[in-house]
Order: sequence, then structure tokens, then C-alpha cells
Amino acid sequence: MKRPCLLAHRGFSEAYPENSPLAFQMAAEKTGADGIESDVHITRDGELVIFHDASVERTSNGTGFVKDHTYEEMLALDIGGWKSPEFAGQHIWTLGQLLDFCREAKLLLNLELKNYEVFYRDLEQRVIDEICQRQMQDAVFVSSFNHISMQRFKELCPDIETGLLYDKPLLDMEAYIRRSNADSMHPRYMLLQYQPELVELYHSRGMKVNTWTVNDGEAMEDMMARGVDCIISNRPDLLCRVADRLCGK
Ligand code: G3P
Ligand code: CA
Repeated sequence: MKRPCLLAHRGFSEAYPENSPLAFQMAAEKTGADGIESDVHITRDGELVIFHDASVERTSNGTGFVKDHTYEEMLALDIGGWKSPEFAGQHIWTLGQLLDFCREAKLLLNLELKNYEVFYRDLEQRVIDEICQRQMQDAVFVSSFNHISMQRFKELCPDIETGLLYDKPLLDMEAYIRRSNADSMHPRYMLLQYQPELVELYHSRGMKVNTWTVNDGEAMEDMMARGVDCIISNRPDLLCRVADRLCGK
């Protein structure tokens, strides 16, 4: 069986605070994951920061939206203590710090642009600049639920792979992807169980199939058997063990 690319969702987020430096470091040190999936926003003063939600309440000790905070305010937040007191003292990374870490650790990065709830002007170009400054076009692929953004991204920078995230069953996907310039589709894994024919459809159009967020061993086996190209999981340790058993190392 083909071994897919295996990514740690928001780092090793099952066991460590999501999108924290610790979660990224543990994904690298404690699992055999090929890379990391993570999320980027822009602060009020224009810094690209790694964070999942549009607002900070759920995963920090602060309140309000990322877009309304300065970088210094975001950096002051504790993003570890909500998970467990033992993780208190974790602080956000910028996109630049995450890219440098991935380059050093030889990890791939699937970067999700969080621009479907909040309007972030020029997020695409800002991300492209960070990646290209480091010449990491082959080590990073981007995705978003905002497909207009992904279209623009690809037009701005054909060298970086783009993916269309979606989480609901849609009609006539064949017609939809005919209009798209994206390199891959990123369906929630359950959608491939409803419509197994989609894997072949996407592959026949030269697109990769990168699925998320697969945390259950049986579902991991199912996705590998269906021939997906990439699996994103909060449990990269389990994901790697399943892949070792089914696909070989
Ligand atoms: O990229 C897959 C997945 O991360 C998309 O959804 O909400 O977990 O960022 P979410
Ligand atoms: Ca994400």
C-alpha cells in the first residue's frame, strides 16, 4: 500500500497545546511525521502569527480577536495553560519562526490561511514573501476554506502548491474542480467515505487528495486503503504506527 504523507495537525495537538512551539517540537521529536499542519492570521500591526481560532479565548488566557491585537499583545498571551497547568508559559510563534523551525527540522509544512471568517488584506502575498525569502517553495503547501484566496495565491505564485479545504458534501465536484487552478483537494475524511469515487476523480485531474482530521485508527487505515496522498492528524504518533504496519516504513 502507498505510504501517504503524514502530518501533525496544529503540531502534536492531542498531547500538547495546539499550535504551540512545544507541540511542533514534540511532533518532530516524538513522532515520525513528515511535517506539520498549522494556521496563520495577521495581527492589528501586521505581523503574521501562528494561531488557530479567529479569537483567542479558547486557547489562551486572553480575550478578543487576533486581528484586534498587536503582535506584542499576542506574544504576551499564555497559549499552554488552558491545556494543562504543566504547559503554562508557551507563547505564539510568528510564521517566520515556524518556517525556520520546519527548515531546521526538515519537516514539510501545510499552512492554512485563516481568511474565511476574517478579511485579511494581502495575506496571500505576505505568506508568499515569507516562504520565498527562505526559498521554501518545495517544503510548504498552503490551503484555505476560502477558494478565491487560493485561486489568487496560485496566480501570484505558481511555484507553491495550493489546496481547497472543504467540510461539507457538495454537488458536482467535477464541474467545480474544472474551474480551479489548485493542486490538491483537502476534504474532511468523512466526505471520502460518503463519496469514495472522489479520490479517483481528483487523481484523474492531476490533483492530490489531502485529508483531515483523522484521529481514529480505523479511519486512518480506511484512508490509506483509499489511496489518499496526505493524512493530517492530532495523533501523529498513532498515524505513523498505522502507516508503518500497513505501508512499511
Ligand atoms: O487543514 C485541515 C484542518 O486544519 C482544517 O480545519 O478548523 O482544524 O483548521 P481546522
Ligand atoms: Ca487548520
